[in-house]
Amino acid sequence: MRIKQEKRNIGITQQETESTHGATHISRRTFLRAAIASAGMLAAGGIPMPAGAAKPGTAVTRNPLKIPPVVSPSNYALQAAPATVDVGGGKLSSVLAYNGFFPGPTFRANRNDSASIAFTSGLTEETTVHWHGMIVPTSADGHPRDAVMPGGSYAYQFPILQRACLNWYHPHPHMMTGGQVALGLAGAFIINDAEEAALSLPSGAYEVPLIIRDAKFDKSGNLTYTAKSSGFLGDTPLVNGTRDPRLDVDTAIYRFRVLCGSNARLFKLALSNGAPFTLIGNDGGLLETAVTIGQIEFSPGERLDLLVDFRGLPVGTKVILQDLNSGWSLLEFNVTRQVSVAGAIPTGTLSAITPLTSPVITREFSFDGMSRINGKVYDMNRIDFQVPFGQTELWRFKTGGNAPHPVHVHGASFQVQSRSGGRGVLFPWERGWKDTVLLQDGETVEVLVRFDAYRGLYLMHCHKLEHEDMGMMANFEVV
Ligand code: C2O
Ligand code: CU
Repeated sequence: MRIKQEKRNIGITQQETESTHGATHISRRTFLRAAIASAGMLAAGGIPMPAGAAKPGTAVTRNPLKIPPVVSPSNYALQAAPATVDVGGGKLSSVLAYNGFFPGPTFRANRNDSASIAFTSGLTEETTVHWHGMIVPTSADGHPRDAVMPGGSYAYQFPILQRACLNWYHPHPHMMTGGQVALGLAGAFIINDAEEAALSLPSGAYEVPLIIRDAKFDKSGNLTYTAKSSGFLGDTPLVNGTRDPRLDVDTAIYRFRVLCGSNARLFKLALSNGAPFTLIGNDGGLLETAVTIGQIEFSPGERLDLLVDFRGLPVGTKVILQDLNSGWSLLEFNVTRQVSVAGAIPTGTLSAITPLTSPVITREFSFDGMSRINGKVYDMNRIDFQVPFGQTELWRFKTGGNAPHPVHVHGASFQVQSRSGGRGVLFPWERGWKDTVLLQDGETVEVLVRFDAYRGLYLMHCHKLEHEDMGMMANFEVV
């Protein structure tokens, strides 16, 4: 594999990744990427801003954390298009946005509602919308073969059958997902249900989505993207599209619905005052019981449902949500109001989780290099394997190197059984139902999975988006 770097006259550094497979294709896509990024730049007129993120202890001007608007997915019109947004500090940035919001609007629905989303594309390249974690029919899954062309539209329609959880939506076009996500296209999708409601978890202003990612800005303050086969790493953290964010909090328990929305970066979360998180859920919803935990590492596509207890902290206290991997201050909590609200950290059973058992067959998937699964680069028109409907299977994911590989499966949630090699253990945030699991160098991870909602075509892939775009993805068919 040869990597060639070029500077284009629009001022964006592009890397072209060439492999023996599909070199022309990637070059063409990379070129389209330059075109879309430049369109954004022309629309901008922003002000230069320094790169780099606030380190703990550094005085920075903090911007109020943006909270995307909450909308219902029933009869909703969604458009992806270039937009100019304020990421904080009064500076405007060109991004790609859903309905002008960065991140996109938060969908919220109850189990057994249905979604009917009329999508239109104002992009200059093809796109799709994938509802990550949502178990939907193939026709609504945003598969790259269902590409929406520039100016085109697509009706995403699906019943919401699964339990309460935090999912998200983002583009999934053939070989161009990384750029579209990095330039801004992502949003949250929250499902509620009766089991969750009975727990009286913090809600309203006390339930806050946190979409955490890294980003790169150009000299004019616009988001930029440079494809890099080892994975795109930005130099600036953003939470809900806000630089150096601050959230004023009451002396209460908060529920944070956290998504790792980066292309390739892992975050290791901790609180600066040494207080633990109470982990109550992950990708597929609530855990069986809450877990008190000081540090949590999560990777692109994974979600966390966290309670943080600010009760008993004096007004004026500042607590930082830190990323221990990079040393970044992700978000400052500023205790500003003394209140006394009812509510407690739940101690008993949160949810009943029926374990999957007795797999009928074992399938092994080797995440090879940066662009292959079981030796093969993704081919949109090739069905790599078929899975009988309703059958419990053991899937074994393994890799020798080039990690992190966050492995994501469409069409069902799975239960993680074991990890050997590498870190060698399972972590509390890997309990319950998952759809994305982190594979580090030398690791083998086993999961149990059963596809019992729909028959049809689904994807399994590495959620490091540059690996996905280079072909670390497989098609399978539930039959
Ligand atoms: Cu979050 Cu196949 O994607
Ligand atoms: Cu990977």
